[in-house]
Amino acid sequence: MTGELSPIDKAKFVAAKQATDYVEDGMRVGLGTGSTAAWLVRCLGEMVRDHGLRIKGVPTSTRTAQLAREVGIEVISLDEAKWLDVTIDGADEFDADLNLIKGGGGALLQEKIVATASDQMVVVADIGKEVETLGSFPLPVEVVPFGWQTTQALIEETLVSMDVLGRTTTMRMNGAAPFVTDEGNHILDLHLNRIGDARQLAMVLNQMPGVVENGLFIDICDAVVVGYGDGRVEVR
Ligand code: 5RP
Repeated sequence: MTGELSPIDKAKFVAAKQATDYVEDGMRVGLGTGSTAAWLVRCLGEMVRDHGLRIKGVPTSTRTAQLAREVGIEVISLDEAKWLDVTIDGADEFDADLNLIKGGGGALLQEKIVATASDQMVVVADIGKEVETLGSFPLPVEVVPFGWQTTQALIEETLVSMDVLGRTTTMRMNGAAPFVTDEGNHILDLHLNRIGDARQLAMVLNQMPGVVENGLFIDICDAVVVGYGDGRVEVR
């Protein structure tokens, strides 16, 4: 499954492999989105195929659903599962309090719904994702297509009034057209540099008409399994 891996892929793989320890026979498991979460899905697929692990997986994107089925994991919807034992997902940034920025892959809405409906959320990440203060990675905000430029202007005005350092916002593109999420929405990326009060910003953003969800995961993550390029793993 692994062959010769670059240090970054090795870091992602060893984190994902170790995180399979959180999964037990019979569990309902939320399956994250992104390149690190894809390693996790492949590792779980191997355990299903070769070791008879029986799990039901709830994917957080159409991409992950497709991969999970390819590797032999039984896929069910969140409403069929009702509640999950654990969700394992990647992140774009995590801090010492295990708060996260997610949504680099555009799946933050399903990811937050699934993680919130789980007994435990475990993040798998390479060490490059660890930050002192969230915000170097542009904060993804999912917005409805209707009036998205008006929503963008409202977000920018609000950032000014909150005295946030970086205030540029960009529409995420897919070639010449705006990126479209699994729910048919768009993503605005907020270039903030440093988020002073992540909890407050998350609350303010979600109160705006037109905003569906933001990529700040505050008090949702229970553990981060961190991989290094030399194969070491640490759990935060
Ligand atoms: C997708 C996500 C991903 O988990 C995040 O972007 C990390 O991805 P990767 O593991 O490829 O670095 O939030 O919406």
